[in-house]
Amino acid sequence: MLYHLIRPLLFRLDAERAHDVVTAMFRATSRMPLLPRLISALYAWDDPALMVEWAGLRFASPLGVAAGFDKRADLVDALALLGFSHVEVGTVTPRPQPGNPGPRLFRLPEDMALINRLGFNSPGMVAVAKALRARRSHRVIVGVNIGKNRDTPLERAVEDYAATFVALAPLADYVAVNISSPNTPGLRRLHERAALEELLRELMRLNHGLLYPRPIVLKVSPDETLDQIEEVVRAGCEAGVAAFIATNTTLAREGLRSRLANETGGLSGRPLALRARQVIRTIYRLTRGTPPVIGVGGVLTADDAYAHIRAGAHMVQLYTGMVYVGPAIAREITCGLAQALRRDGFASVTQATGVDAEWEGATRQWG
Ligand SMILES: Cc1cc2nc3c(=O)[nH]c(=O)nc-3n(C[C@H](O)[C@H](O)[C@H](O)COP(=O)(O)O)c2cc1C
Repeated sequence: MLYHLIRPLLFRLDAERAHDVVTAMFRATSRMPLLPRLISALYAWDDPALMVEWAGLRFASPLGVAAGFDKRADLVDALALLGFSHVEVGTVTPRPQPGNPGPRLFRLPEDMALINRLGFNSPGMVAVAKALRARRSHRVIVGVNIGKNRDTPLERAVEDYAATFVALAPLADYVAVNISSPNTPGLRRLHERAALEELLRELMRLNHGLLYPRPIVLKVSPDETLDQIEEVVRAGCEAGVAAFIATNTTLAREGLRSRLANETGGLSGRPLALRARQVIRTIYRLTRGTPPVIGVGGVLTADDAYAHIRAGAHMVQLYTGMVYVGPAIAREITCGLAQALRRDGFASVTQATGVDAEWEGATRQWG
């Protein structure tokens, strides 16, 4: 409720500045005495029906924070208080890099969307490792999303992913391999079979060398054809990935109403939802949930999250919803999800996963 009062003020600021203000507030409140307990009591929502497990990880609910919100890994404690079951930090690059020049993040309020061309602004893996070690709370699961530096040629991308993996996997519960950001030139070419196989082979090799190997998940783009998605899923399954994250932001711009619709970058939020769901459904049809799909894109309400789950997602993540709905979004979604499951006679999230996967014969609509 409070957020409705603050939001007009925040929306007067440049979008990236507003993000900095909000996250500074999150960080400060999570470090004050007593306040964290109060915040958690107000925002967190526990229900055993929401528990989800995969790859040996137990999530209190299916809802997490998508990569990009906490690039520096210094918001994990604060986001835990708001009722998310997991936070995916990053994308982290090996060396620090500033990303693209600003302005580079735009609100599209009429479409409940964002366009960003941040371009992997990252403090680098050493700083992120330090932040992860400094975490106080271990109540949420932390994924680390890894990528490559902009100035590393694509032929040497594997070296960047490998370096970041070695530095951060031991500090993470799972590692997400980001091959799908539209803002690092050429990155999406890692969806091509040979390049992807080489990348995953190396990461799996390094993973097997760890005392406790981590689940490795692959984050895919919504802009590939369905045939390409199939190829990616096959390569991922053969390599032994633990989950697929569908999807990253899109370069598509159909049907937008906002003035800033033609800004360059990746589009997220409501206009991405159907497309993300189509990719979720496609992957689920191929894997039947093993490995699972983490659905991302346009989740602003419990209904959105439920629709992704029914299409085939084991879990969901969000970013843009935080901007439009505010910090109560996790509570609203988890509470609404628990109600929807009960209403429809499901004892758990997993029972609802994929029940609509065969529905809408129109899976092969695009591409
Ligand atoms: C400002 C911004 C920055 C993002 N940065 C990253 C990133 O660094 N790595 C990544 O894998 N995805 C990144 N994403 C994509 C989100 O993780 C998510 O896949 C996408 O926004 C769709 O979800 P949403 O509609 O809930 O925002 C970013 C999204 C936004 C809006």
